[in-house]
Amino acid sequence: MRKPFIAGNWKMNKTPSEARELVNKLKEITGNRTDVDMAVCPNDVSLQGVVEELASTNIKVGAQNMHWKESGAYTGETAPGMLADLGIEYIIIGHSERRQIFNETDQDVNRKVKSALQYDLKPIICVGESLAEREAGKTKETVTFQVKAALAGVRSEDIEKVTIAYEPIWAIGTGESASAEQAADTINKIRKIIAELAPGKESEVRIQYGGSVKPHNIEEFMSKPDIDGALVGGASLEAESFAGVIENAS
Ligand code: G3H
Repeated sequence: MRKPFIAGNWKMNKTPSEARELVNKLKEITGNRTDVDMAVCPNDVSLQGVVEELASTNIKVGAQNMHWKESGAYTGETAPGMLADLGIEYIIIGHSERRQIFNETDQDVNRKVKSALQYDLKPIICVGESLAEREAGKTKETVTFQVKAALAGVRSEDIEKVTIAYEPIWAIGTGESASAEQAADTINKIRKIIAELAPGKESEVRIQYGGSVKPHNIEEFMSKPDIDGALVGGASLEAESFAGVIENAS
């Protein structure tokens, strides 16, 4: 039985002080829960403060991006070992904003996934189709390609450490989520791909839905057996709404 997993992706929001304030509220409301795995993913400059504030709670911390190299002349980048040293547990890899705005390729995503695993960071790999791809009937083809590319060369025993977040690009930040049926249909396909790549691991890998998840719609997504949680954007920026998503996911 897979435990629900709700992660908040704050994107480029919240100053370090606002980040501390937000997680302080969040830990009061939901910090001791054990029935749902919880994580917040602030911007890099807020990571240390958030790790400190959440130290004695059940809320884990993730980062939003990293370089795959150990160190070196990569101005502006963050190395996996730096995140691991801070006590970071999760790393979002291949978010559509990174793919679309920062030209991150499937090969970059794959390098980052393999590097993260070497540093005991648990990847949350984002995949999802654009509106044009959905309208052209290419949703499953796109997602299949992205999942296979992201996991190429990953050892079978490491695949269970990975979470996949299925985020249709047209549903991100639009207020227009996919229907639970649409999400479950694609997520079921992703589970079949995992079964192909690492037989037996398909029952262990958690697959989240992401795209306009709110406290009022999470329950419907969670009612689908293949959907194990959510990667939440906008609704993770307020303690009450993020805690509401967590509460209604259990
Ligand atoms: O990583 C999170 C997603 O991009 C979803 O964002 O909940 O604001 O639509 P959203």
